[in-house]
Amino acid sequence: MTDKYTQIVSGGLGRDVARKLGLPQPVLLRRYQPGAPLISGPVLVNGDSAGADDLATTLLGWGLDVRRNALPKEKLGAIILVLDSVQHPEDLGKPVLAVGASLRDLAPNGRVITVSRAPQGTSSPATAAARQGIDGLLRSLAKELRSGATANGVVLAEDLATTSPSALGAVRFFLSGRSAYVDGQFLSVTSAAGRMPAVADKPLAGKVAVVTGAARGIGAAIARTLHRDGAKVVLVDIPAAGDHLAEVANQVHGTALQLDISRSDAGQRIIEHAVERHGRLDIVVHNAGITRDRLLANMDQGRWQSVIAVNIAAQLRINEALLASGHFKDAPRIVSVASTSGIAGNRGQTNYGASKAGVIGMVRSTAPLMASFGGTINAVAPGFIETEMTARMPLAIREAARRLNSLKQGGQPTDVAEAIAFLASDSAGGISGEVLRVCGQQLVGA
Ligand code: NAI
Repeated sequence: MTDKYTQIVSGGLGRDVARKLGLPQPVLLRRYQPGAPLISGPVLVNGDSAGADDLATTLLGWGLDVRRNALPKEKLGAIILVLDSVQHPEDLGKPVLAVGASLRDLAPNGRVITVSRAPQGTSSPATAAARQGIDGLLRSLAKELRSGATANGVVLAEDLATTSPSALGAVRFFLSGRSAYVDGQFLSVTSAAGRMPAVADKPLAGKVAVVTGAARGIGAAIARTLHRDGAKVVLVDIPAAGDHLAEVANQVHGTALQLDISRSDAGQRIIEHAVERHGRLDIVVHNAGITRDRLLANMDQGRWQSVIAVNIAAQLRINEALLASGHFKDAPRIVSVASTSGIAGNRGQTNYGASKAGVIGMVRSTAPLMASFGGTINAVAPGFIETEMTARMPLAIREAARRLNSLKQGGQPTDVAEAIAFLASDSAGGISGEVLRVCGQQLVGA
């Protein structure tokens, strides 16, 4: 689905008219293209800790144009604010205000990234206050940025270096066009596991990935993105979607598996197909989902149960089969699609909200089980994404949902897919049990 308004006001006369009338001014977002530079323009690494020095040195090694001090009037591609050693809220002022002075020089579609430590990792109330303060600071700053620029943060466990593999993986993700629709969010890195890919543009080379609900919408975009990143893809969808499924499977040179994931043997069927056809199974993306909206006062048993069955019970059962099989043991990855409705709630979606919040609970509780195989499990929580599902919303509600976020536009299926591809990659090996919102920093709800 296209958002014509964004196309009209993102340049020329349309932009001038929107500005004069005070209308929302979304811009076309910078999205990832293989081979394109990670970021255009210099990257200012602000902070005087050893962690800031180390990170700046690594970014130089990536071929980025790194600055430790801002030059007057120079357009910046990104600003990285390293706050890994703050001990008191009063420590925040100097580095944060220095970044403030550079914000007017941030290029359109630029990036601000904080690198800090988890508040839970200290017993000092003052240090915890300073670390937690970065949360409020970053989320507020993200709401101030314009022209497609975003602000996101990397939160490190106590003993992790700013250059640990997944800290670098997360910084790279946030710098790149892969995170175009991720705004005002944090990724926590809890272990030193993971490694940067040998070939930056093929981070999933050699992996076999299963994507459920892959016949259309976000699932089809996930299959295309994982294929582009080098994975062999097994595409799963219900038999009724068989034609579309075969079409997408052909496009990505993958294999199609017609299967209702709520069947009790779905996990077994998925494992057998992947192992028989491709010899292994590394990544499972639980994307298939349904809505059956009704106010709770009007909710019937069928609507309630079908949503719970497809959106969460099936995932639980498939995960049990995966963990019990001997085929999912080589640093495996599970990425589940939740929803901002499972975080903030949504009128008419008690069933859907319960199922998607359930996904978040499942992910947190499954993370230690996956860790015993050197694996990870994470969720992405999309906000308003331009798909057939959202195209069916009444016009006024759709237009409001589309604009009520910091980027003033809906996301594309590819934005969700890019976040999933990152979490499925080796460079995210130190990130587990996390929920990453892909919502342009939705302004309503949590
Ligand atoms: P969609 O309705 O366009 O596609 C869902 C796919 O899942 C369809 O191909 C469908 O046939 C398949 N599917 C449904 N039940 C299945 C079953 N029992 N077994 C196998 N496949 C089944 O939906 P869309 O928009 O692409 O959403 C994908 C996921 O993203 C869902 O989990 C949805 O809840 C979630 N999501 C979507 C948002 C949006 O704005 N579009 C926002 C937040 C979350």
